[in-house]
Amino acid sequence: MKKGFIFDLDGVIVDTAKYHYLAWKNLANELGFEFTKEQNELFKGVSRKRCLEILLEIGEVEATQEQFDTWMIEKNVDYLKYIENMDASEILPDVPKILDYLKDRNHPIALGSASKNAQPILEKVGLLSYFDVIVDGNNVTKAKPDPEVFLLAAKQLGVNSSDCVVFEDAVAGVQAANSAKMISIGIGDEKVLSDARYNFKDFTEIDTNFIQDLINKN
Ligand code: BG6
Ligand code: MG
Repeated sequence: MKKGFIFDLDGVIVDTAKYHYLAWKNLANELGFEFTKEQNELFKGVSRKRCLEILLEIGEVEATQEQFDTWMIEKNVDYLKYIENMDASEILPDVPKILDYLKDRNHPIALGSASKNAQPILEKVGLLSYFDVIVDGNNVTKAKPDPEVFLLAAKQLGVNSSDCVVFEDAVAGVQAANSAKMISIGIGDEKVLSDARYNFKDFTEIDTNFIQDLINKN
């Protein structure tokens, strides 16, 4: 049975977390409060709607439904301006090395992201053709840490969940992969992602021999 490989997008393939942060910070400032990089950690892997709920809790801002909807749109319009000119130079180091290794061996590859902007970002950075399946914020109803996004990706890849490997930079994403009984690989701070089965600072630390060992595993 072939192994399936599922990649999160933001913070794994590209460093878009910094643009999400800037867009949320602009909104917070407009509403009259600060939003720090530390607080932004809570936003990783979390849906846009939930991020705005948390932001308003931080700022102790009450919102009508209409205001809430307006701010969701406003944040995204701002975010889209930041990502407008993204290109291949924003792919995180050694991501193509791993994608090429898998592609050359015909291993199915999926994207499993909470973002509704996933597909255009992959197009901008020139990686769209690597992905056999894309499951993103447009296809799921339950956000990470719910495993829905990864279970759907496995299903569409035609691979058993237990034969899937997930690369994630968010605590909620690692939890989602673990709940789906997949092999979770944390990309980022080992202390933050301590629930992951394996941990790496980034893809430069991942050797293709490690990937081959995962492929060979029963
Ligand atoms: C996740 C990010 O990948 O996507 C979150 O880690 C973000 O920070 C979420 O909120 C939703 O993204 P978007 O692009 O649909 O607003
Ligand atoms: Mg992420």
